[in-house]
Amino acid sequence: MKIRIGLIGFGRMGQMYLKALQDSGKWEITYICDTNEASRELAHKLSPDSIVTADEQDIFNDDTVQAVGLFTLANSRPEQIARAVETRKHIIAEKPIADTIDREWEAVKLSEQGDCLSTVNLYLRNSWYHQAMKQFIDEGEIGELAIIRICHMTPGLAPGEGHEYEGPAFHDCGMHYIDIARWYADCEYKTWHAQGMRMWNYKDPWWVQCHGTFQNGVVFDITQGFVYGQLSKDQTHNAYTDIIGTKGIVRMTHDFKTATVELHGVNRTLRMEQPFGGKNLDRLCHLMADSIASGKRDPHLPCLRDSAIASQYAWTFLEDAAHNDLPAIGNLQTLDEIRERRKHMANGYGLLRPNKQQA
Ligand SMILES: NC(=O)c1ccc[n+]([C@@H]2O[C@H](COP(=O)([O-])OP(=O)(O)OC[C@H]3O[C@@H](n4cnc5c(N)ncnc54)[C@H](O)[C@@H]3O)[C@@H](O)[C@H]2O)c1
Repeated sequence: MKIRIGLIGFGRMGQMYLKALQDSGKWEITYICDTNEASRELAHKLSPDSIVTADEQDIFNDDTVQAVGLFTLANSRPEQIARAVETRKHIIAEKPIADTIDREWEAVKLSEQGDCLSTVNLYLRNSWYHQAMKQFIDEGEIGELAIIRICHMTPGLAPGEGHEYEGPAFHDCGMHYIDIARWYADCEYKTWHAQGMRMWNYKDPWWVQCHGTFQNGVVFDITQGFVYGQLSKDQTHNAYTDIIGTKGIVRMTHDFKTATVELHGVNRTLRMEQPFGGKNLDRLCHLMADSIASGKRDPHLPCLRDSAIASQYAWTFLEDAAHNDLPAIGNLQTLDEIRERRKHMANGYGLLRPNKQQA
């Protein structure tokens, strides 16, 4: 029996989920809800058997719906989580799970009190490359885990283009890297020092680097910025994870199509190249469907608590950056030029509407 789900929010992510859910064969997409008319028209076209609505209450009121997908922006998520818990529906949520940290913890509390399953799209945890590197580390191949270095810089989402409730780039996108570093360290953050840059004289830093320690002594450095050559003729990006142990190293990089993992352990040297996998929604939808069907939560599913912790540290590190000089370079005119260029791009990094894009 397929699991009946209602999707709320049919923008960039909602459309990706529809495809993943359809492809999995395990879900019946009973409803699609979006307040935007153009999105509803697209929903009709892409999923003719679904009921398309502008009112999310239609989904919550339907007792035959077993699960909801919450893919609007962060400001509406806490009320939706509360309604899902109240009407006993399983939850697949986008991150962050709310627009303020207090509301995030409120949502965590509610979801943990309810008797339904909930998960959140911390997509890096579901990637083949992080799974492969973690396994190699757990096998002892690099000795003791010591240093975690993560960098993600692209000419992606510019300030003012959307996602305002999600916070500056280091929160909206950076919380993924804060989460995955914590996942590798298997420990909580202890100390930090963050440096930001208010590129183009924008009010918030759009590039932040934070380094520090975990409680077990593992050291991290995380660099995130959507400031990487926005006006260059041919755009590029720089994204890697570089993990150093007492005896060996593992690292990965990707070009959004292919991910390359290099494992240099004491016994084995391996190089793996596989499709990047995008947001890995196929795996998330698969794990969630199996968990709902069996009534047993798969331990690989990220929980809302993980998301709230990552979000809280992203805000904390941003706050720290605000106290460390936080210089501004450039001017708002350049930012206008960037927005104008992105408005007319059909294929670019982190475009919210067009179909072809990279993160
Ligand atoms: N996990 C990830 O890697 C990842 C990547 C990108 C985005 N996201 C998250 O996914 C969420 C959605 O992002 P997006 O890029 O798809 O944004 P988007 O703006 O493309 O889509 C949001 C959609 O929600 C609709 N909407 C807003 N309020 C609504 C409501 N009350 N009821 C019904 N529809 C409503 C909008 O009309 C829009 O179509 C964001 O919170 C973002 O942080 C996560």
